[in-house]
Amino acid sequence: MVHQQSLLDAWGFTSFVAALQERSLWHEPSFLESPAYDTIRLGQKELVNLAGISFLGFQQDEEILEHFLEATRRYGIVTAGSRLAQGVSQAHQQVEEFYCHLTGKERALSFASGCLANLGFLHAMGTRFGTKKLCGLDNRETVFLLDRDCHWSLRKGVEGFPQHEYFPHNDPIHLEQMLARLQGAKIVVVFESVYSTDGGVAPIGTLLDVCERYGAVSFVDDANGFLIYGPSQRPFAQEFAHLGRATFVMTSFSKSVGLEGGIIAGPADAIRAFEFLSGTSIFTAAIQPPTASTIHFIMHKLVEQPALVDGYLEQVALFRRRLEAIGCRLNPTPTYITSILVGDDEKVEPVRRGLFERGYLVTVFHYPAVRFNHAMIRILPNRMHTSEQIEGFLQALTAVKEDYQF
Ligand SMILES: Cc1ncc(COP(=O)(O)O)c(C=O)c1O
Repeated sequence: MVHQQSLLDAWGFTSFVAALQERSLWHEPSFLESPAYDTIRLGQKELVNLAGISFLGFQQDEEILEHFLEATRRYGIVTAGSRLAQGVSQAHQQVEEFYCHLTGKERALSFASGCLANLGFLHAMGTRFGTKKLCGLDNRETVFLLDRDCHWSLRKGVEGFPQHEYFPHNDPIHLEQMLARLQGAKIVVVFESVYSTDGGVAPIGTLLDVCERYGAVSFVDDANGFLIYGPSQRPFAQEFAHLGRATFVMTSFSKSVGLEGGIIAGPADAIRAFEFLSGTSIFTAAIQPPTASTIHFIMHKLVEQPALVDGYLEQVALFRRRLEAIGCRLNPTPTYITSILVGDDEKVEPVRRGLFERGYLVTVFHYPAVRFNHAMIRILPNRMHTSEQIEGFLQALTAVKEDYQF
């Protein structure tokens, strides 16, 4: 009998995993012994969770849990198929309508995740479908221009299209040069509102000015800004005031809303066409209905109770000041995403473990996720964290900083 492992030798998985293990970069995922809330139990270890992307803490709110359970009874657990086969629940419709209301767009389409929304959008914009005789279209000549620091799903989504290029991060001048060179082509410009590794904010208005000057379609991934930035009393209101000018906007519901799902909004006929053309709608399941209903409920809560986010942003601003006071080198743009520069790629995993041993869970990035030797710790405080938990973290960080000198 053929040994299955040796069949895979040519792929190099064994030596890849061994190399990761040698550098302490691979370990079995820990077993979650508790819900992933502001604290988390991984195996035997109780930790303060500064890594969770559901940072507003709605999943641990009794009112939200009750809503979710009620919606499960009302809609059932699943739609049991894709939208066009099994239909959408009223909850999906409410999510899509409310997202249109918030973004000022004509129509929206929800997906099981933000990642699927992005992959589906790019596929839909650059694909050929059917034949000219049989309701077909052919958009394979589309040229995609992406910000260099876009999320994996966006970079992955254009990989299959030969005509894609990257512009330097947040650089409208370079984008303009590219557009001038490509005049006459069918172009889609893709960038994010807030970047999740370093928390940088895009010059949204200036980038859209350039797109409009050259007649390019624009797509803004607002996964990290949605329902956080935009209102005039919040930071970056000037940048976000322009978001509605994008041809398409997209978000993930795993960040501020803290659940799972993604959505794209834009001109009605394009969104109708995406039901077929994205592939990640017609060939996969939709958001589970109780999740869709709870997304709708939380979106309303965030709009109707702005103090929830205002308070959280103040909490993060104070946290940043405390980190600066202990000598941390932070990401320059003070969004709610806080990164501490460690530098040396070899140091960042021992730093993560040092914090873990002291009872704090953080996310770390190293090459190739970020530039070589620009390793960083990313911290997302949870709205539910107490000042004691934050003080404890600052003490632990001070000790680890001393040990590893960053
Ligand atoms: C900018 C951006 N886009 C898309 C996604 C993917 O979203 P989801 O987790 O809903 O798949 C993320 C998540 O990390 C993100 O940061």
